[in-house]
Amino acid sequence: MKTVIKTSTGSYPVYTGKGLLDNHSSYLPETFVGRKVLTITDDTVAPLYLDKVRNALDSEVFVVKHGEKSKSLASVGKVLEFLAEKEFNRKDAIIALGGGVVGDLAGFVSSIYVRGIPYVQIPTTLLAGIDSSVGGKTAVNLSLGKNMVGRIYPPEAVIFDLETLKTLPKKYLKDGYGEGLKYALLCGGELFSIMEKGVDKTNLERFVDLCVRYKADVVEKDENESSLRRLLNLGHTVGHAVERKSSLRYTHGVCVGIGLRVVCSACRKNGLLSDNEYLRCVELFDKYRIPENPYPVKDLIDIMRLDKKTDGDYVNLVTVHGLGDCRIEKMTFGEAEVFFE
Ligand SMILES: NC(=O)c1ccc[n+]([C@@H]2O[C@H](COP(=O)([O-])OP(=O)(O)OC[C@H]3O[C@@H](n4cnc5c(N)ncnc54)[C@H](O)[C@@H]3O)[C@@H](O)[C@H]2O)c1
Repeated sequence: MKTVIKTSTGSYPVYTGKGLLDNHSSYLPETFVGRKVLTITDDTVAPLYLDKVRNALDSEVFVVKHGEKSKSLASVGKVLEFLAEKEFNRKDAIIALGGGVVGDLAGFVSSIYVRGIPYVQIPTTLLAGIDSSVGGKTAVNLSLGKNMVGRIYPPEAVIFDLETLKTLPKKYLKDGYGEGLKYALLCGGELFSIMEKGVDKTNLERFVDLCVRYKADVVEKDENESSLRRLLNLGHTVGHAVERKSSLRYTHGVCVGIGLRVVCSACRKNGLLSDNEYLRCVELFDKYRIPENPYPVKDLIDIMRLDKKTDGDYVNLVTVHGLGDCRIEKMTFGEAEVFFE
């Protein structure tokens, strides 16, 4: 499937389907022809898929160690130095081949090298395919918080070959489902039902397409996250705090899932979410093996104060009023403590 996303500066296609990497050059933007290309990937993905990319393209390669720690300013510096050494200029291009870590790092590097160089996302995890590769958010982490240095810088294309999920360990598939649960709550309807029934090979493509289309729609209406796009932070404000508190013991998607549990429980307690819909959500969280929140909410709120989604003394929290009915609510941290306790 092809979904086109309009941005403030143009538009880009998101291709999803099986076997796209066998013929990926036909999905690359025409402007890639004749450009010097750097493929940024990690040491797990490189032996699996780098050859497929290089079969069609003569590319330089930069390999980072797999894992969240590579989303750092240190990695940014190393890739920038490499680009300069190889004399890349603004007409050249970058490919991000991997999960959300590689995508966020490569996207951010692309946004700042010579004040912006084109790039393409080739996601290889479910999380990256349905979420991080779409929408142009790029970032790296600081020791005090996730994604604290970044830009919104859209790619020229996203090419998500679902065949890559065949090699993805279950642990990371679960991470994708963490973000999938977020979309299920935001959209309700068919997407929620697919997840209730269970995502399998008969409905995987439909599941991916519904997530991508939802994100595309939101991002088109509010690219810079001044209003509507904040909905996509559902579960993330709490989730990022869990991620930090656990010192990365839990992976990103699982933390989002824990965040969703905490938010849904608070929404039910505060009379926003009906008992019936709450129970359907809990069954879904259990089905996808999302753990209970292991931390005191007060500790998480202290960490939230550092989150860039906070607005001075306020936090913009996404609340669940029903399946497919989520809203952005601005609260003081004091109000948030009462809301969650
Ligand atoms: N930019 C955004 O809008 C956005 C949205 C959501 C999440 N994120 C970010 O995404 C990151 C998480 O992404 P992720 O879950 O993809 O993690 P990841 O990039 O760390 O990938 C998970 C693991 O799977 C391995 N892997 C990747 N593809 C594989 C494949 N096909 N087969 C076998 N192994 C494979 C990787 O080497 C890694 O060890 C976080 O840093 C998060 O903050 C960004």
